[in-house]
Amino acid sequence: MYSIIYRSIADPDFSTIDIYQMLSRSRDNNQENGVTGCLLYHQNQFIQLLEGEKNVITSLYEKILKDSRHRNIATIKEKQINAPIFLDWSMAFHDFQQNGNAKHQKLKKIDQIFEQSSAFDKGSDMALDFFKNVNDILFTKN
Ligand SMILES: Cc1cc2nc3c(=O)[nH]c(=O)nc-3n(C[C@H](O)[C@H](O)[C@H](O)COP(=O)(O)O)c2cc1C
Repeated sequence: MYSIIYRSIADPDFSTIDIYQMLSRSRDNNQENGVTGCLLYHQNQFIQLLEGEKNVITSLYEKILKDSRHRNIATIKEKQINAPIFLDWSMAFHDFQQNGNAKHQKLKKIDQIFEQSSAFDKGSDMALDFFKNVNDILFTKN
C-alpha cells in the first residue's frame, strides 16, 4: 500500500457547497477504487492524506495535481505503508471553520499542529503521525 500527503490552497471560487459536492463524488470514486484517507480544510488551505494501492494513488494524485479548484500544491510525504490509518473512511473530512465545540481543546491542538504543517520534514514520519492524531481526535468515537 501507498500513501501521499500534500497541502494546497483552495481557489477563492471553491465554495463550501462546491467542496461538499467534490467530497461526495470523491467518496464514491474512492470507495470504488479502494482509496481511503482524510481531507482537512482550514483557512482556505487543504491538507489531504490519500491511502491505497500504489498505482491507484499515483494516478489519483495526478488528477488532483491538475485540478484547477486548488493551487500551490506541495507534496509533503509519499510513503509505502503496511496498513491505512483511515480504514473506515472513503475520505474523512473536517472543516475547521465549521467545527463544533465538544472537542474544542483537542481541536485547538490540531489547529496548532496544522499551522506548523508547512514545516513537515519530507524525511520524517511526522506527517503520518499528524494524521494518526487527527484520526484519534476527530474521527474516533470515545
Ligand atoms: C482538494 C481536493 C481533493 C480531492 N480529493 C479527491 C479524492 O479523494 N478522490 C477523488 O476521486 N477525487 C478527488 N478530487 C477530485 C479530482 O481532482 C478529480 O476531479 C476527480 O478525481 C475526477 O473524477 P471524476 O472523473 O469522477 O469527476 C479532489 C480534488 C481536490 C481539489
